[in-house]
Amino acid sequence: MITKFLSDSEQDIEISAEILRRGGLVAFPTETVYGLGGNALSPSASQAIYAAKGRPSDNPLIVHIADTASVYELASEVPEVAKTLMEAFWPGPLTIILPKADIVPKETTGGLDTVAIRFPSHPAAMELIRKSGVYIAAPSANTSGRPSPTTAFHVKEDMDGRIDAIIDGGAVGIGIESTIVDLTFSVPTILRPGYITKKNLEDIVGEVRIDPAIIRPDPNLRPKAPGMKYTHYAPKGELTVVELTDVACPTDATSTENAAIWTDKGAAAVADTINALYNKKKEAGDKVLILSPKEHLSFYNEEDTVTVGSIEDGITVAARLYAALRECDERGAKYIYSESFKDCEIGGAIMNRLLKAAGQRIIHV
Ligand code: TXA
Ligand code: MG
Repeated sequence: MITKFLSDSEQDIEISAEILRRGGLVAFPTETVYGLGGNALSPSASQAIYAAKGRPSDNPLIVHIADTASVYELASEVPEVAKTLMEAFWPGPLTIILPKADIVPKETTGGLDTVAIRFPSHPAAMELIRKSGVYIAAPSANTSGRPSPTTAFHVKEDMDGRIDAIIDGGAVGIGIESTIVDLTFSVPTILRPGYITKKNLEDIVGEVRIDPAIIRPDPNLRPKAPGMKYTHYAPKGELTVVELTDVACPTDATSTENAAIWTDKGAAAVADTINALYNKKKEAGDKVLILSPKEHLSFYNEEDTVTVGSIEDGITVAARLYAALRECDERGAKYIYSESFKDCEIGGAIMNRLLKAAGQRIIHV
């Protein structure tokens, strides 16, 4: 298959919309990551998405919509709490899970009786959904297991020749996937942390649950979101996270902060551990890279570092994380060591992705 490379111009969106109407697949930008879209109500389009990604077909897809009225077609029940969240956060990086209506095929929901629904705020995504007249099932547009794409170039790396078209809308803004909240429980339950934090949700609807194992999984527990059981976001090199154990979240953290209370001593202890591991691999002749926030770059051999933003600003770390993991692949790293980030607020979403990319390999200092 020859993949068309398209822009986000009106004309190219029209071409993409036609591909979707015919049952084809188009990758497109959203505000979180690039999605790999197909007609959500077509079982064969959903099957084609699983095939293109190499994704197990029991891992359900998110259905993307471009107006809130669509929820009433896709879900068999829309509780008050859903209406409140839709009003507060849509369009935007929040996915809600509701009981599915009959029109949604099981191929799209991975066999489940629930459906994940999201109204993205990216203009090209909205245009595409509206012009095509279809609901778009879209997982992240990476090969299953790899870091999610935050640029059209990343999509090309994984999907060239496997899908009909890629819309280039530039680098995405947020860089990690939407927050997923399951509204089929009596208390809204976060299944995947993201840019919209527990605190953001609680400010609007009161009590919200998140299983702490989502950020730091207990290998003995059965995952709730089917996607949670797979190794994800992983670079080709072996990633290990080195964490300073006794760092607390500040009580006054704002919802987007990842502010760690780093002491000089703590930062030096993490760097010493990483440098010892680095030196050992390097002496053995292996390519090693270190993921570090910009404040700590000076601790390391500069030519073997990849920066992920500032420890004081979780938003820049989130936006950079997947690109940094892909950069490690490009530079041929066999081993990667990363500093950790705090579990507070958006930091929880960052650690969730980082630890998955590391296959939960973590060293405590
Ligand atoms: O930001 C995003 O959400 C991006 C962009 C493209 O919109 N999409 C995305 O899709 O991250 P994907 O397929 O990579 O992740 C969807 C996650 C998976 O972990 C899946 O298991 C979970 O959503 N999911 C989907 N439907 C579900 C359902 N009915 N119940 C529980 N989990 C569900
Ligand atoms: Mg994904």
